[in-house]
Amino acid sequence: MSYGLLKGKRGIIFGALDENSIAWKTAERVHEEGGSFVLTNAPIAMRMGTINQLADKTGATVIPADATSLEDLEKLISESVEILGGKIDFVLHSIGMSVNVRKGRAYTDQKYDWTAKGWDVSAGSFHKVMQVLYKQDAMNEWGSIVALSYMAAQRVFPDYNDMADNKAFLESIARSFGYFFGRDKKVRVNTISQSPTPTTAGKGVKGFDGFISYAEKMSPLGNASALDCANYTVSLFSDLTRKVTLQNLFHDGGFSNMGVSDAVMQAFEEQED
Ligand SMILES: NC(=O)c1ccc[n+]([C@@H]2O[C@H](COP(=O)([O-])OP(=O)(O)OC[C@H]3O[C@@H](n4cnc5c(N)ncnc54)[C@H](O)[C@@H]3O)[C@@H](O)[C@H]2O)c1
Repeated sequence: MSYGLLKGKRGIIFGALDENSIAWKTAERVHEEGGSFVLTNAPIAMRMGTINQLADKTGATVIPADATSLEDLEKLISESVEILGGKIDFVLHSIGMSVNVRKGRAYTDQKYDWTAKGWDVSAGSFHKVMQVLYKQDAMNEWGSIVALSYMAAQRVFPDYNDMADNKAFLESIARSFGYFFGRDKKVRVNTISQSPTPTTAGKGVKGFDGFISYAEKMSPLGNASALDCANYTVSLFSDLTRKVTLQNLFHDGGFSNMGVSDAVMQAFEEQED
């Protein structure tokens, strides 16, 4: 269903790798709601993924950019303003990667240059994106910037490893930069803390099958899907949420406020029988 919520709005969407990506679903929904945008991803992901199919479908231009490179970001943002024909109304940062997770290093045995790389990609890049947008004065007033987070920023999920720390940092950047963006440019900045979602990044975390089904059983509404997340993001890009800023917004079917559910207790009771 389309409501025309983003008619006439221009944006940049980071992180659509394949059709499972949260950013992919978001691009499809933003297109349906009338928004136009530039799609971007790391140059290496261009070769692995299918982003051009998404661009054809949504009338978007693709500009490769490594989100840790200020030079790439400066070029991406100035070209986007030119291509889209004006300043930017919405930005989605949907980027995450931990080398320690990828290579199976335990949290208690990190290789710190990998830790630094994962931090730069997953959290530092968010600051860089916003700093370039801010310095180029590339955002329209009442624009909206969203990044994706996970509840391991607040609570312990052992196999999420150093990504937990990266997400805590990401959420803090949203608040700190959100202050300056709000004060100076009337732009809002928020993070969405999303349910476990079966994507390339999600499935790369050890024990993913276990914690996605645990979260499903714990959440009164069940896990939020990538499409649900796309819909929520559309609402945050729209004019209906203008005064929501500096928030970490849980989008998880209620998981974050649960202690235990009947379904989880039942699973344990069955084990004891
Ligand atoms: N899948 C989940 O369970 C889950 C849950 C909560 C939050 N998130 C977050 O959602 C976001 C999107 O992830 P996803 O689950 O859609 O997985 P995904 O693997 O589809 O997307 C991750 C994206 O990050 C991009 N990326 C990696 N390094 C980059 C770089 N240097 N420059 C630019 N882009 C780079 C990848 O190419 C990829 O497109 C991430 O921030 C992730 O942590 C995911």
